[in-house]
Amino acid sequence: MGIRLENVSYSYNKKKKGTVYALKNITLSIDDKDEFIALIGETGSGKSTLASLFNALKIPSSGEEYVFGIKIQERRKRKENYNDIRKHVGLVFQFPEYQLFEETVLNDVMFAPRNFGKSKEEAEKIAVSALEMVHFPKEMYDKTPFTLSGGEKKMVSIAGILSMEPDILIFDEPTAGIDPENRNKLTKLFKDLNEQAHKTIIIITHDMNIVSKYAKRVIVMSEGEVAFDGTPKKLFESSEDQIASFNLDYPDSIKIAKYLNEKAGLNLNPNQNDLNSLIKEILS
Ligand SMILES: Nc1ncnc2c1ncn2[C@@H]1O[C@H](COP(=O)(O)OP(=O)(O)OP(=O)(O)O)[C@@H](O)[C@H]1O
Ligand SMILES: [Mg+2]
Repeated sequence: MGIRLENVSYSYNKKKKGTVYALKNITLSIDDKDEFIALIGETGSGKSTLASLFNALKIPSSGEEYVFGIKIQERRKRKENYNDIRKHVGLVFQFPEYQLFEETVLNDVMFAPRNFGKSKEEAEKIAVSALEMVHFPKEMYDKTPFTLSGGEKKMVSIAGILSMEPDILIFDEPTAGIDPENRNKLTKLFKDLNEQAHKTIIIITHDMNIVSKYAKRVIVMSEGEVAFDGTPKKLFESSEDQIASFNLDYPDSIKIAKYLNEKAGLNLNPNQNDLNSLIKEILS
């Protein structure tokens, strides 16, 4: 099950002459559990657009898409929305403003469980536990979301998705604008959701340290197409020209290992997951 796209293209505006496609001929499958995918690529390459196809916020302009066995297509009547899919696939937007609309933080996070038919007490319990998972301070539960800082809004919008308890969780640049301590807590949360709760995590990020340390699979977008789909190890082993052509950077661990090999004549394995593994190799 999970998500399956076959030859999917997407255009924001169809013109008779020269339609511009934000996504072109995408074919890929995503499992409904245990995947940890980094969706990366340069600005404007189509990452956010692809993410909103994954939970049926957008409908393919052409090609076929199935999400948990449901075909995503235009012909559904307005009443038949895709709420059933949102129970399975949750998306945290790049800009949390688009997601927060209730009067208080707690009500906002309670919205999904209430909408899925939970009692007020049950919904509150789920919401509080979701807010605790993102370490959102208790004394701010009654604040109006619009008055929060950018980072606080982001935490609340992440809690909002956790409260839906979906199988696949998509986070569009969740760590952008978040301080280092909260960033570490968030990445730890994603790892736990993946390893302990067996959730599929899809994270859109420009942070190559997160990619090399956490992702099991990387999908690189380039000009609306999938330019690479494989392990981070394989990606960072590809040629420097290739990495540059995707407008990507290397993680710090790889940069430092290469630098030490070049400048200090060491013979370190340049493909390190993170700084800890590099330090271990240096010390040994
Ligand atoms: N609402 C829209 N209307 C028209 N074109 C759009 C719209 N949103 C995005 N696009 C175009 O679609 C393409 C893909 O945009 P998208 O937001 O998916 O990129 P992205 O990879 O998420 O970039 P970023 O790293 O900046 O978030 C871009 O060329 C963009 O200009
Ligand atoms: Mg984006």
